[in-house]
Amino acid sequence: MTDLPPTAFPRGFASDNFAGVHPRVLEGLAAVNRGHARAYGDDPVTAALRAAFDRLLGQPVTTHLVFNGTAANCLALSAFARPYGAVICSDVAHLYNDERTAPERILGMRPLPVPSVFGKVDPASVEAVLRRGHGVHAVKPVALTLTQPTELGTVYSLEELRALCEMAHRHGLGVHVDGARLGCAAATLGASLREMLVETGVDAVSFGGTKQGLLCGEAVLYLRPGIGGEFPYWQKHAMQLASKMRFVSAQFEALLEGDLWLENARWHRSPASRWSSRCRPTRSSPASRRSGSHRSSGPPSSGPGTRRPGWSAGCAPGTPSQATWPASRPPWRRRATSLFVRADRRRPAPAPKRGACAAGSGQL
Ligand SMILES: Cc1ncc(COP(=O)(O)O)c(C=O)c1O
Repeated sequence: MTDLPPTAFPRGFASDNFAGVHPRVLEGLAAVNRGHARAYGDDPVTAALRAAFDRLLGQPVTTHLVFNGTAANCLALSAFARPYGAVICSDVAHLYNDERTAPERILGMRPLPVPSVFGKVDPASVEAVLRRGHGVHAVKPVALTLTQPTELGTVYSLEELRALCEMAHRHGLGVHVDGARLGCAAATLGASLREMLVETGVDAVSFGGTKQGLLCGEAVLYLRPGIGGEFPYWQKHAMQLASKMRFVSAQFEALLEGDLWLENARWHRSPASRWSSRCRPTRSSPASRRSGSHRSSGPPSSGPGTRRPGWSAGCAPGTPSQATWPASRPPWRRRATSLFVRADRRRPAPAPKRGACAAGSGQL
């Protein structure tokens, strides 16, 4: 093993991807590292994990495990895929901005971005996109994907999720939630996954593993019975079927046991909330400028942050203020998803080079 100096791993708040693996997850891995087990998910650890997800959601769900979040999103959406289809998403969605052409390549579908306010979309703007089509000539939206919490660290309330799901279903769209950091949303809302996902009408979920404490692995959950029946074929086709699946499952088991995922999320949130309470509102945030639809001169509750009547541009009570959160980030960090962003990094920076994937740009 390379003998690295202690300084080789400095603490870095740019991304939760910089973090290590939770010790209890490593213990879970070690615990199943004995004997032999059947491959490709046909093992007792994976069976136990599936039962654990059923309990967590309060109903039988279909659970599949993949290696990374991009695959979880694309493959989760396979349940709705049509060769002429499109997936509606926010203009800051990871699916749209950070998954290169994986949705097009894997699903054969195009992401259709909708202007967002602080990372969130609302039913009216989604419906505006739905109205844009012109029959067989246009791409046909078949699904709506929402990120919870959003790429800007904001959170859809239960009412907002319910309204979006209701609207989407009315138009025949399936609803997927990219929950790379779902625990942070559950902790923020003080809601169970059943309340946040099942009772609001979400059909499919990417339940994050890596960003919630695992070494590697993400779960795709189908909540609506009867959908995603062909997932295993899509998964193998996309080279995302782990042979030694029990080691991915064991990590998730550790994450779910004693609600470690929620414990990690609460720990994530507390310094972020402390920090945000020290931020000042600014006149116009990069995020609002980018969405081109909203100017903020104060907290959302003061008026300008609410784009549509009854629609909150902010996040749930107790979360960092929307008016200050994206604005306090320098432009090169404005889509950083970590809830930890160093408050002292205020220096102006050149526009981010979208193509640059070298070390240091991995903040997503
Ligand atoms: C919101 C969101 N979804 C999905 C992903 C996908 O993760 P991966 O890098 O594992 O493909 C990320 C990664 O940072 C993310 O922030």
